Amino acid sequence: MNRVLFMNCSPNKNGNTYRIGEKILENVEHDVLQMADYKICQYGQVNEEDQIRDVFKEIEEVDIIVIGAPIYWYTVSGILKTFIDRLYLLPEAEVLKGKKFYLFAQGSAPDEATKNTVTFLANRVATLMGMELKEVVIDTSDGNEIIDKLNF
Ligand SMILES: Cc1cc2nc3c(=O)[nH]c(=O)nc-3n(C[C@H](O)[C@H](O)[C@H](O)COP(=O)(O)O)c2cc1C
Repeated sequence: MNRVLFMNCSPNKNGNTYRIGEKILENVEHDVLQMADYKICQYGQVNEEDQIRDVFKEIEEVDIIVIGAPIYWYTVSGILKTFIDRLYLLPEAEVLKGKKFYLFAQGSAPDEATKNTVTFLANRVATLMGMELKEVVIDTSDGNEIIDKLNF
């Protein structure tokens, strides 16, 4: 059976991102990775507090990752962007290779430019990390469209 991980990239552990992710996966056995619980240093500012390797340990054994993020300033949250930045030149990031992922991002009123930017980002990350992007959906915080389109 596929192991599924929901990666909540909102600082709000019980907010809209979490609610939508849990609704998408309501009939699917899964684990939750609350990124807000981890201290991930900025690229170029890594110190002994950094927990990126702990995140990779959580990801290592799963087959499918559902990444959820709020939209901040017309793109994904800083938590997700910092995680993506940190994939650069990090040997441990190899654990992502071959994994399937879904990405959803929600905001109060995401515009077309945001949708295009986030879709482009998801596709580039998939290609560069050797991952299989199954679906990317960007929509409003009520989550109805996202839940409709991301069906497991
Ligand atoms: C700093 C900040 C910037 C935001 N920028 C946008 C934006 O550009 N577009 C948008 O649609 N929503 C924006 N929002 C609204 C959030 O995406 C929205 O409230 C979201 O549902 C929060 O998700 P959460 O409950 O998981 O934290 C912004 C919110 C914050 C706090």
